[in-house]
Amino acid sequence: MIAIYPGSFDPITLGHLDIIERGCKLFEQVIVAVLRNPNKTPLFTVEERIEQIRTSVRHLDNLEVASFKGLTVEYAKQRNAQVLLRGLRVLSDFEMELQMAHTNKTLSDKIETVFLATSNEYSFLSSSVVKEIAKFSGSVDHLVPKHVAQDIYKRYL
Ligand code: PNS
Repeated sequence: MIAIYPGSFDPITLGHLDIIERGCKLFEQVIVAVLRNPNKTPLFTVEERIEQIRTSVRHLDNLEVASFKGLTVEYAKQRNAQVLLRGLRVLSDFEMELQMAHTNKTLSDKIETVFLATSNEYSFLSSSVVKEIAKFSGSVDHLVPKHVAQDIYKRYL
């Protein structure tokens, strides 16, 4: 079974990586799909984010990193994926994620959303938290892969 793990990944965090690694054990193939969202002003371009993710997941051979535009379910169909993989950190994630899963179900009832509970140690972690800390010159070494931390420090110099 092929699973799509869609998201912004601006930037990838150790929490994302936790979901990716565990997803790779559950599914034949996982495709990390970075959304090309013209409505957002990200810290890193889609190409930079793809490169950051690729460098973080070299140890996984059933993983692909790609980008997509438009609806996630349409991209999933295009890639013959049956599952949308999402991580759940805290209760407040659930409301939004459930709404998204239901919306996606109305768009295609062939595609299932599967949630993985994010490991406890990353339950507070998000890309926004990482950017907030780095903006005020704090260390993010314990929150993102090493090479991503270096990219972030350069961006906030
Ligand atoms: O990392 P994020 O920002 O929480 O990811 C959100 C994402 C990309 C999964 C979601 O916004 C999405 O699927 N966008 C594509 C548009 C779409 O399919 N919308 C319908 C579902 S609400």
